[in-house]
Amino acid sequence: MKSWIKDIPVEEMIAWRHHFHQHPELSFKEYETAKFVEEKLQSFGIETIRPTETSVLGTLKGNKEGKTILLRADMDALPMQEESTLPFASEVKGVAHTCGHDTHTAILLATAQVLAGMKDSLNGTVKFIFQHAEELNPGGAKEIVETGLLNGVDAVIGLHIMPNLKTGSIHVMPEGPATTSADGFYLHIQGKGSHGSMPQNGIDPIIVGTQIVNQMQTVVSRYVTPGELAVVSVGEFKSGDAPNIIPDKAFMSASIRTVNEETRQKIAARIKEIIDNTCQTYGATYDLDYIFSYPAVINDKNISSLVIDSAKEVLGDDMVFEAAISSGSEDFAYYRQVAPICFMWLGGGTAEEGCGFANHHPNFTVKEEAFVEGVKTEVQTVLNFLK
Ligand code: NI
Repeated sequence: MKSWIKDIPVEEMIAWRHHFHQHPELSFKEYETAKFVEEKLQSFGIETIRPTETSVLGTLKGNKEGKTILLRADMDALPMQEESTLPFASEVKGVAHTCGHDTHTAILLATAQVLAGMKDSLNGTVKFIFQHAEELNPGGAKEIVETGLLNGVDAVIGLHIMPNLKTGSIHVMPEGPATTSADGFYLHIQGKGSHGSMPQNGIDPIIVGTQIVNQMQTVVSRYVTPGELAVVSVGEFKSGDAPNIIPDKAFMSASIRTVNEETRQKIAARIKEIIDNTCQTYGATYDLDYIFSYPAVINDKNISSLVIDSAKEVLGDDMVFEAAISSGSEDFAYYRQVAPICFMWLGGGTAEEGCGFANHHPNFTVKEEAFVEGVKTEVQTVLNFLK
């Protein structure tokens, strides 16, 4: 066993998690959480600055020169009511840590404390970013990256706790997309209403809308390389009130997932063309709100294999798995603009272990025994990277 493992502050970490869980804060409003984190880091002897009002960047310089690795935790909660019966359930009405960001924050604080205790033997620098606003587009990561404060970092790693995976197991996409991008659009079509028996007097927005929906089925099938993951789904279509009235407007919204930036841009351009041309053809006008949310998280091969090897070293081979691509999205993707990245999933417990509710569910819970495995993986990855 590694000698530093006994230095992991397990009880404190769980107490910190309970504190964050009881006092959740919404995206861009993580004032108390950031203050708590800042004070803890300083008490470990780690220098801190605030890249934004509610984010904290800690820097731990080892005694020798070397590379720099950045570890990331997100700190924000969700605007929803917790329904769990946990003794430390949220005390804030309508706000809850139902994505586990409270656990990420506690795990990274414990990692920071362990590494701070090894300062004298570290060859290089460890940075810790406690990030605000992962849950709200455009996200906190982009804002932090744009400050330039992360320049000079050589690798970035982050983890997300995940129910329905074995407690304390680590899952890593070894190379390429770990998540998809999550874009979408809202489209209002303006036609011209008329009597259902006199279509010649109107511009039927249902016809325009359904033509658009149909043509959209060709975007992935005809413009994306076969085998590449891409999804275009119209999830909402509303128009009309009665069988004998041609309505004057239609509305639709869609979700678009991709893993490749070029394809992402190509799909957006193609969809805009289809909407514009179809509306023109039928004489309708439209209002389109196309939303680019987070890009796909693209794991770097070398950093991912470092994480996998490090996790195996401290957890054992049977606790480390290759992850499939997740259809979720994460603003961790933006750190790739700074350095190669690896995002991993930490098992928060399976349904059999009592943790069957997914992230963002009001009954979301995870096993606290998992946290220490997250700390071990983070610490060992840092040690191996700086070695
Ligand atoms: Ni999350």
